[in-house]
Amino acid sequence: MSKKILVLAGDGIGPEIVAEAVKVLKALQAEGAIDVTLEEALVGGAAYDAYGDPLPEETLTAAKASDAVLLGAVGGPKWEPLPISKRPEKGLLGLRSGLGLFANLRPAVLYPQLIAASTLKPEIVSGLDLLIVRELTGDIYFGQPRGVETLPSGERRGLNTMVYTESEIERICRVAFDIAMQRGKKVCSVDKANVLECTELWREVATKTAADYPGLQLSHMYVDNAAMQLVRAPKQFDVIVTGNLFGDILSDCAAMLTGSIGMLPSASLNAQGQGMYEPIHGSAPDIAGRGIANPLATILSVALMLRHSLGAPEVAERIETAVSKVLDQGLRTADILSEGMRRVGTAEMGDAVVAALSA
Ligand code: NAD
Ligand code: IPM
Ligand code: MN
Repeated sequence: MSKKILVLAGDGIGPEIVAEAVKVLKALQAEGAIDVTLEEALVGGAAYDAYGDPLPEETLTAAKASDAVLLGAVGGPKWEPLPISKRPEKGLLGLRSGLGLFANLRPAVLYPQLIAASTLKPEIVSGLDLLIVRELTGDIYFGQPRGVETLPSGERRGLNTMVYTESEIERICRVAFDIAMQRGKKVCSVDKANVLECTELWREVATKTAADYPGLQLSHMYVDNAAMQLVRAPKQFDVIVTGNLFGDILSDCAAMLTGSIGMLPSASLNAQGQGMYEPIHGSAPDIAGRGIANPLATILSVALMLRHSLGAPEVAERIETAVSKVLDQGLRTADILSEGMRRVGTAEMGDAVVAALSA
């Protein structure tokens, strides 16, 4: 039966990179490797401009009715003056909470061809293969109370609340532990348990849950140290499990280990296996509209979609191999350019991946 994919291009470079990922899907469809139906809808600033709402009801309904969602990116300076509740980012957060996408997988894998693109020494990053499992529907992103209030003195106070229930912690730890058992069997849980009670509970629940996984090696690290260790010796990590805010920050840091944030895909999954797939980077307003953005993170997100929501792991592997072949050919977008390589634009990179699929 045909699988329904909702395509949400979003803002900034979103439409440019999503167009290349759609090319890949259409090429696979044309040769009969997959059977998908693509539908499009608006989210983020594009939806605000059309409907006055960053997540129109019909977009959420269409997302719920689909097997998977492919998202580009949202946001940009144009919408920064809006109140938080109308901002493009609120559309993305509404999709995550509306679909219950609590488990965010952010694999940071260094393609050996990109060693020269990393800002770190080759011996520090070569062979890097780490997975950040980020909790995505809780924490300070969604905690109440929140807002800006005026005190009796007339002074304003801004507040947000970091909050996690035991069951929320346990279910994301189980996702991380299950995956770890299929790879290096090593999980580092990242928290700030020396200061924040919420993450003290996180550490306690993680430790208790790990008892169900014989052979699993669970360690704990404070987030400030983890940020430092990711740059000092990233290969010490196999799987990192952490909360929403820490995971956001650490995954941008991990992205740079792979050469560019333009290389990191992600999968956001709910308990039913439904997923939303997007690059971890944003709408890159500084390069939007110029046809130079790297589409590989989005194309690799399609691979994750095929693996996690569409039951086609062998086709996912074909995409990953095609990306590797294109890098072998020396093609590079500006963000991963190094000496002796050939600079290409967004569309040329997408075309090259499509060509490599059948090569
Ligand atoms: P960003 O990730 O958009 O950009 C950071 C830097 O990385 C920029 O210099 C950009 O040019 C570069 N970059 C990002 N993706 C790239 C790609 N594919 N190829 C080449 N270079 C790339 O982060 P930002 O500038 O902090 O945020 C811009 C906007 O995006 C904000 O409105 C932010 O809220 C939003 N944002 C959205 C998402 C999302 O939709 N998932 C994620 C992060 C940020
Ligand atoms: C990401 C982004 C989002 C986040 C923003 C745009 C809401 O930074 O997907 O990493 O903070 O989760
Ligand atoms: Mn982020």
